[in-house]
Amino acid sequence: MQKILRELPPVRDPNVLVGINTGDDCAVYQITDDLAIIQTVDYFTPIVDDPYDYGAIAVANSLSDIYAMGASPMFALNIVGFHTRGMPLEILTRMMKGGADKAREAGIEIVGGHTIDDKEPKYGLAVTGVLDPAAIVYNSTAQAGDVLFLTKPIGTGIIATAIKRGIASEAAIRRVTEIMTTLNRAAAEAMVKVGVNACTDVTGYGLLGHLGEMTQGSGVGARIHARAVPTIQAARDLVFEDLNIVPGGTKNNLEFVQAFTNFDPGLSQAERLLLADAQTSGGLLISCPPEKADELESALKEAGTIVHAKIGIMEAEDDTGRIDVLV
Ligand code: CO
Ligand code: CO
Repeated sequence: MQKILRELPPVRDPNVLVGINTGDDCAVYQITDDLAIIQTVDYFTPIVDDPYDYGAIAVANSLSDIYAMGASPMFALNIVGFHTRGMPLEILTRMMKGGADKAREAGIEIVGGHTIDDKEPKYGLAVTGVLDPAAIVYNSTAQAGDVLFLTKPIGTGIIATAIKRGIASEAAIRRVTEIMTTLNRAAAEAMVKVGVNACTDVTGYGLLGHLGEMTQGSGVGARIHARAVPTIQAARDLVFEDLNIVPGGTKNNLEFVQAFTNFDPGLSQAERLLLADAQTSGGLLISCPPEKADELESALKEAGTIVHAKIGIMEAEDDTGRIDVLV
């Protein structure tokens, strides 16, 4: 995708503070000295069977890029694909109700949108917010010595595949739904209050892919401890039992990150795949100055994020953004 984007004419408008030229997931457009608009769009096909939960996950996921940049959403528009003649309308209603309730929880309303006829359902949002340009939290401004925090466990891609194959346990489905429907709002508010160097949300490229965007964009290396990374127990059990449960996107991620990642030889293929697992509505990966690490840890704890795990540190300057994964 990045390669295709590079083929397009570059963005020249000087009011564009964040665009496709950087690895951040939102666009930020300056209006006045202290006011900018932030926008993002995201949508995907069903990841769980319950339409209400699917709607809630799609909305939590769409809002996440706004939170990752330290901004707050103001309002959103629905993007819907639905086969109106082939599926009961009740499903569409439940899906959009799940989305609307989640948006309300985030303190915003969905004020419009667009629906197209589509055999495979799709749902997501275009989200708009505002922020002070000076307060933008980029993913490319991490500093050597920063402490890395993660606010949700990983492994949602593996469980989503198990759901598709009908082999996920009820408990696993409940757990992954709870994780994916959790807003990154509280984590973002804690991060903004403390003041950190960089942040990204962990989604399709997996933990290592998104960390790689951070290290390469920031020109630093990173060192993480595989066993300090919180993972969903059910995902761990599934992948240790059978590597075939791993989704294609996760395998591609692992192949991609190998170019800039050194794994400790003691790490099994299952552990490596978990760290590369493609996430939906994953947590925030926050790069925090070491002197503020304790403050951030308490702020995240107080905010009630699912986890507030210290998974590693940013190392000395490094143009290649190398990541060392220790046991
Ligand atoms: Co996105
Ligand atoms: Co993102």
